Amino acid sequence: MKIKLNNGYEIPAIGFGTWRTPAGDVAKASIKVALEAGYRHIDTAAMYGNEASIGEALKETDVPREEIFITSKLWNDKHSYEGAKEALADSLKNLDIDYIDLYLIHWPVPKVLKDNDAWKRANQETWRYLEEAVEQGLVRSIGVSNFMPHHLDSLLETAKIIPATNQIYLSPSDQQDDVVRHNTKHNILSQAYSPLGSGTILENEDLQAIADKYNKSIAQVAIRWSLQKGFNPLPKSVTPERIVSNLDVFDFELTDEDMNVIDSLKGIGKEASNPDEKDF
Ligand code: A2P
Repeated sequence: MKIKLNNGYEIPAIGFGTWRTPAGDVAKASIKVALEAGYRHIDTAAMYGNEASIGEALKETDVPREEIFITSKLWNDKHSYEGAKEALADSLKNLDIDYIDLYLIHWPVPKVLKDNDAWKRANQETWRYLEEAVEQGLVRSIGVSNFMPHHLDSLLETAKIIPATNQIYLSPSDQQDDVVRHNTKHNILSQAYSPLGSGTILENEDLQAIADKYNKSIAQVAIRWSLQKGFNPLPKSVTPERIVSNLDVFDFELTDEDMNVIDSLKGIGKEASNPDEKDF
């Protein structure tokens, strides 16, 4: 299943998250399992340190490059026109591919740009390069991550391309309603990293009761909820059985009633941190 982005490109409805997946054999092995299981969308970032391992796994698979959707992200020390150029070149080199499907600004307000609105101009300049990179064919889609409405609004003051996605910490535990509403208003897809609340929602009794009803796991219910909300979940795992089962969510549908119960579970696990208060 695929979702259409605001620029016409399609993105596979579930992505394979790799935040905290260690570089080297673990990353390579888990990408291999994910591709065999049927994932066609891999989410990484320069900061995760595993781009080169993912690039190696891409070399070793029989799945053609054009069938795999790859996302990476620009880190906080690269927020400028020249910095963005360098960052994208590095990610392309590490992944050893000639285009990236989706390239995101990882965080809106790096520590050194916190004072006096410096972050605004820096994001706008970064974006100016990313728009050129689209024209040059180095990236197909560009977007943002961890952007709250005021960050997005400031980017939109000068943007020629509307971000295709805003990737945020999004699970039943933290539904980020105001951010999601703002994304939707601008036709920006809300991508959900940590759709399992980094694993912290998996003991919840209400979720367990729903999972039992469908003969599914809590993780599968949470991923299904995310899809039905119109999000783009990116579950992370390095455990083969979990990698496989997290994709096995297309043979059931949560009722409106169950969706409502899950909507009411805010705060059951970990919540997003405030991007304006991040210290990196
Ligand atoms: P592991 O990678 O060791 O398999 P999130 O995607 O919300 O960030 O959650 C990732 C965390 O949840 C990881 O610790 C991962 O562990 C764990 N996890 C992923 N899928 C499942 C699953 N199906 N059942 C239980 N735990 C899971």
